[in-house]
Amino acid sequence: MPVETAPANLSKEIARRRTFAIVSHPDAGKTTITEKFLLYGGAVHLAGSVTARRNQRASTSDWLELEQKRGISISSTVLQFDYDGYRVNLLDTPGHQDFSEDTYRVLTAVDAAIMVIDAGKGIEAQTLKLFEVCRHRGVPIFTFINKVDRPTLEPFELLDQLEQKLGLAPYAVNWPLGNGPDFRGVWDRHTKMAHLFERTTGNAQRAPVQTGGLDDDFVREQLTPETYETVCEEVEMLEGAGTEFDPADVLAAKTTPVYFGSALNNFGVQLLLDGFLKYSAPPESRKTTLGIEIEPSNPAFSGFVFKIQANMDPKHRDRIAFIRIVSGKFERNMTVIHARTGRKVRLGNASKIFGSERETVEEAYAGDVVGIVGNNLFAIGDTLTEDGKMDYDEIPFFAPECYTYIENAQPVQAKRFRTGLSQLLQEGVMQQYRLPDAVRNVPLLGAAGPLQFEIVQYRLESEYGAETRLQAAPWIETRWVKSDTVDISRMPLPPGVRLAYDGQDCAVLLFETAWGMNYFAERNPEITLGTLPF
Ligand code: G4P
Repeated sequence: MPVETAPANLSKEIARRRTFAIVSHPDAGKTTITEKFLLYGGAVHLAGSVTARRNQRASTSDWLELEQKRGISISSTVLQFDYDGYRVNLLDTPGHQDFSEDTYRVLTAVDAAIMVIDAGKGIEAQTLKLFEVCRHRGVPIFTFINKVDRPTLEPFELLDQLEQKLGLAPYAVNWPLGNGPDFRGVWDRHTKMAHLFERTTGNAQRAPVQTGGLDDDFVREQLTPETYETVCEEVEMLEGAGTEFDPADVLAAKTTPVYFGSALNNFGVQLLLDGFLKYSAPPESRKTTLGIEIEPSNPAFSGFVFKIQANMDPKHRDRIAFIRIVSGKFERNMTVIHARTGRKVRLGNASKIFGSERETVEEAYAGDVVGIVGNNLFAIGDTLTEDGKMDYDEIPFFAPECYTYIENAQPVQAKRFRTGLSQLLQEGVMQQYRLPDAVRNVPLLGAAGPLQFEIVQYRLESEYGAETRLQAAPWIETRWVKSDTVDISRMPLPPGVRLAYDGQDCAVLLFETAWGMNYFAERNPEITLGTLPF
């Protein structure tokens, strides 16, 4: 792509963009915090809709009934709001661990993440998993320790967990003044001000905040003598540790700024948002497969598809490809090259999606996400560009941890079954594998979690009218295989190990137990096993 000077307007628009996701274990408070962010972004009318969305979806959409039944959020949406001169893109990540593939893909489209931790529980399994993906991509992480209005773990213990479990150097930007029923606010270390907390009613407003120095009488009066003493000691310890806050370390993903607060009571959320916007960076360059760095301000438009969702809303039975813009400016009806096929496509039907509401997008900039409706050519990972010679390779591939056979229950529905299955494969809901020695021609599906199969089954029936039967298959580990000396297709395999081929016809070995896999690896050093295709 030729490097041209970016028009001033383009640079300005990109500089004010912040694109991020919130990662957390289910129930830590992601939805609540999202609502409050929208509130601060002035999108008050939308704020309520995040929760309302759960009910609304259940009433307007059939497969999303499953969400309701399970009390989880499956489909991601992109929320956009303006705050303090910034244009903020918040990509919603599905919270349940079974939907991790989708979540992981969303994380390829962000420039930063806010990690929400329940102060009473500390770092939980899902947070750890998501954090690994962020670390792998070098994404800066901001931490919000939520629910300090309830009894919490010791704040130092929480910082310690960040350091020990995540290997991140935590820097507490603020510090809780008491916890549980004694929680009265936070101490801001940068401004040396106490922000006092008042429980809000109805949570629909910005939290009323009073600020003052730790020694101010009205601040002291709010705290119990024990809390005051503890806080003074803790603040002294923090300052005594002598750690300097360096914003460059945040961007290098070495340090995580830590904010304490209570999303439900709308306390500390604005401090987090302000801090996040101040210390996070606008979109950065991304590498193409040829190793060339493409700057966001490069005037030629480029982006990649990180998510595809069909039949999101039965009112609009169609397919949406979500594109993260990497460089340049998007204009509705522009013609771009679909890098994988070399075809020219017109990006006509572009939308911002909020739950079931859509709004046409006329223009968007690097950092933004647009949903292109109804183009069946697009697949996850595809690059769209004004320069056909480039390709982004952003979307990771995941090794399934569970398998099932899926059988069409009604032979007359064979076409619907095939169509539905191929659509869901394109969406990346699951992967299909082929067993070379299979007796019957029943598709074998792999996914990160078994709930995914229920979704496949549910969607095949409700969206394509195809009834299916699932039959669990025993494998729990998948490894791609490579060897210069052994012909794996002819090799006798021990019990509990099976040869299969992925959608690209690459050989994998499926293992029934982790122990069996390790044993196999030890006994066959001439075979390389990989968690990704070679
Ligand atoms: P999630 O999206 O991460 O799964 O979490 P969500 O925001 O749905 O919050 C999970 C539960 O935790 C909710 O309660 C929510 O009200 C509560 N919560 C969130 N932030 C705070 C906080 O700062 N303090 C306290 N005490 N609770 C908080 P719920 O009973 O499951 O749902 P709801 O009936 O309140 O909506």
